[in-house]
Amino acid sequence: MTAPVIHILNGPNLNLLGQRQPEIYGHDTLDDIARACAALGQELGLATELRQTNHEGALVEMIHEAREVAQGIIINPAAYTHTSVAILDALTMFEGPVIEVHLSNIHKREAFRHHSYVSARADAVIAGCGVQGYALAVRQIAHMIASKG
Ligand code: DQA
Repeated sequence: MTAPVIHILNGPNLNLLGQRQPEIYGHDTLDDIARACAALGQELGLATELRQTNHEGALVEMIHEAREVAQGIIINPAAYTHTSVAILDALTMFEGPVIEVHLSNIHKREAFRHHSYVSARADAVIAGCGVQGYALAVRQIAHMIASKG
C-alpha cells in the first residue's frame, strides 16, 4: 500500500524562518521543519512534501495541485491567513483533512491577526507551539486519515 501524501504548504516570508523575528518565530529554518516532518511522517507511514511561496495565487495553485495528489493538507498561510478569501475558497474544494498551523499564538498578538479566513475550513488549528506545531499537525493528520479508514 502506498503511503498517504501530506502537503505542508507555507505562505509569504516563511522562507526566511530562522532569520525573521526569531524572538517570535524561533531559530529553525523551513528546511529544518521539512526534515523533521519528513522523519516523523515516515515513522507514521505518511509521505510529506513541504512547499512555500510568497505569492497568493501560487498558494491557491498549490492547493489545487494538492487536490490531485494529496490526502491531507497542513497549511501555514502566514499573512494571507488574515486577508485571503481565495485561499479559503481553494481549501473548501479540497476533500481531505486540513490543519492550519501558526508558529506564534496569533490571538496573543495584534488585533488584525486574531481573525483567520482559513479557520472556517480548517478541521484543526494549532497556534503558539512554534515549530513543534508542525509535528503536532503531522501526528493529528495521521490520526485523522487512519480513523477515516
Ligand atoms: C504566522 C502568523 C501570521 O500572523 C504572520 O503574518 C506570519 C506567520 C505564524 O506562523 O505565526 O507570517 O502565520
